[in-house]
Amino acid sequence: MRIVVLVSGTGSNLQAVIDAVASGSLDVEIAAVGADRQGTYGIERSAAAGLETFVVNFKDYPVRADWDAALLDAVAVHQPDYVISSGFMRIVAPSFIDAFAGRYVNTHPALLPAFPGAHGVRDALAYGVKVTGCTVHFADAGVDTGPIIAQTPVAVLDGDTEETLHERIKVAERELLIQVLGELSRA
Ligand code: GAR
Repeated sequence: MRIVVLVSGTGSNLQAVIDAVASGSLDVEIAAVGADRQGTYGIERSAAAGLETFVVNFKDYPVRADWDAALLDAVAVHQPDYVISSGFMRIVAPSFIDAFAGRYVNTHPALLPAFPGAHGVRDALAYGVKVTGCTVHFADAGVDTGPIIAQTPVAVLDGDTEETLHERIKVAERELLIQVLGELSRA
């Protein structure tokens, strides 16, 4: 199973996938890692791991549709079975969803459909929930919407900050993402 992973930030969840592949516990080929901006640690760590990387820099495309087309081309050239949005903070175009229908997988640090968006951890904390978690789902053209594949609950502890809670969620998220990728690779 070939995957392309899309990142916008540090790529710590991606690193867990890289490690699982390297250790032989996950039978997946990471065909490439792409980002929507320059200078992400996610791309840096991928290059360090010897992976192919690409950047389709959102700021270089004054016309949004041109970025959409460039992203689609940059991903499609690798002929992935699945595209994984792992901290990729852009909503992709309907044309992208069509091209990878049922094959575009997103991870989110909340129990969807609760707390979608860029601040899922902060919003859950602000609401005062006692349990939040992470979700891996097939993404559609909405913001963190689409059929849920798997979820893991994570308790909110007294004194949690956005950072401490997000770190605990990410521990669960990495495990869940690797579990889901394993299941998809065996399907
Ligand atoms: C992850 O927690 C991921 O679920 C979240 O960004 C983090 C990326 O961390 N994505 C979203 O919030 C999407 N709505 P990482 O770059 O260290 O893997």
